[in-house]
Amino acid sequence: MNFVPDDKRITEIDMGTKIIGTGSCLPETVVTNDDLSEIMDTSDEWIRTRTGIRERHLAKDETTAGMSAEAARRAMDNAGITAQDIDLIIAGTVTADHVVPSCACEIQAAIGAEHAVAFDINAACSGFMFALNIAHAYLQTGVYKTALIVGAETLSRIMDWNDRSTCVLFGDGAGAVVVQRTDHGGLLAFDQGSDGVRGSVLSCANRTNNNPLAETSRQLEYVHMDGQEVYRFAVTTVPASVIKTVEEAGLTVADIDYFVLHQANARILQAVAKRLKLSEDKFPISLDHCGNISAASVPVLLDEMNRQGLLKPGMKIAMSGFGGGLTWASAVLEW
Ligand code: COA
Repeated sequence: MNFVPDDKRITEIDMGTKIIGTGSCLPETVVTNDDLSEIMDTSDEWIRTRTGIRERHLAKDETTAGMSAEAARRAMDNAGITAQDIDLIIAGTVTADHVVPSCACEIQAAIGAEHAVAFDINAACSGFMFALNIAHAYLQTGVYKTALIVGAETLSRIMDWNDRSTCVLFGDGAGAVVVQRTDHGGLLAFDQGSDGVRGSVLSCANRTNNNPLAETSRQLEYVHMDGQEVYRFAVTTVPASVIKTVEEAGLTVADIDYFVLHQANARILQAVAKRLKLSEDKFPISLDHCGNISAASVPVLLDEMNRQGLLKPGMKIAMSGFGGGLTWASAVLEW
């Protein structure tokens, strides 16, 4: 999908959206698979062979907004801008510290981005990608010039730590990028979608109604997942969305230098690489040391790659997020 309207009176529409800085922040505490096997019936062998995860960072005192603000500061530093330059802050998260204020408003306050408008979006593991695509739409209209996009989660607070089939998979952390309007390159195409009918395969219920008329209990629920259904969804939807986006950008998958995909499971990445008939070398991995950090996984991986010097100007990068909702979103950009 491209925001190029028939109406050419909107003269700034040729502008693109470029990532000019990245940052990330993970909790200090690292929990290995062996650590988990001391508190539940699991093993390093089971987790590693089925998922590729070795360890994850879990929050002790860290908060979603606190990690986000630190990731944002690092991204602003990397971009060479100040908080005063930011017009728009969008945070993708399902684990904001408060229902209100939003995580994005808390980030705004923490970094002092007083000129920005700030709001959250809930698209689960696709949250960062949805936020990026929303910012792209705003930037292309000329409404805003510089946006801070954050993906952040403290998933450990919504896990059922008695359910070994889910809690071993996830971690906590935050990633951020600064994007700016540009007159060449940047985001070339995107695709996004939702399938609410299949939403129950990955869910986490909110608090139930507690008003005096309600007959329901106050129980809060934890993440519930049908792992095999989610796996099937991922290995069919992600390759299709990536191919569609790459073609929309006027490229082929062979032109793409890196596929920066949501880090849910190494087997999903391998299956996508196989469907695209590409080497797994083009699919960088952070899930081995982060686990699945939902909306944070794509920006954290992007930041790691950026800091390792892997991303060079002109490179073509495909990114894709997928998860609860169900939701998915992909983008192709020129770095
Ligand atoms: N440690 C040890 N054993 C475990 C375990 C754990 N942490 N979790 C589950 N098991 C056991 C199960 O109880 C089951 O035992 P049983 O055969 O005696 O009943 C066995 O392992 C197999 O469980 P199953 O659920 O069939 O495993 P699987 O091969 O489907 O792998 C996932 C499970 C979750 C790794 C896999 O389905 C998956 O990756 N799905 C995608 C999930 C995902 O990526 N979600 C996020 C998307 S955003």
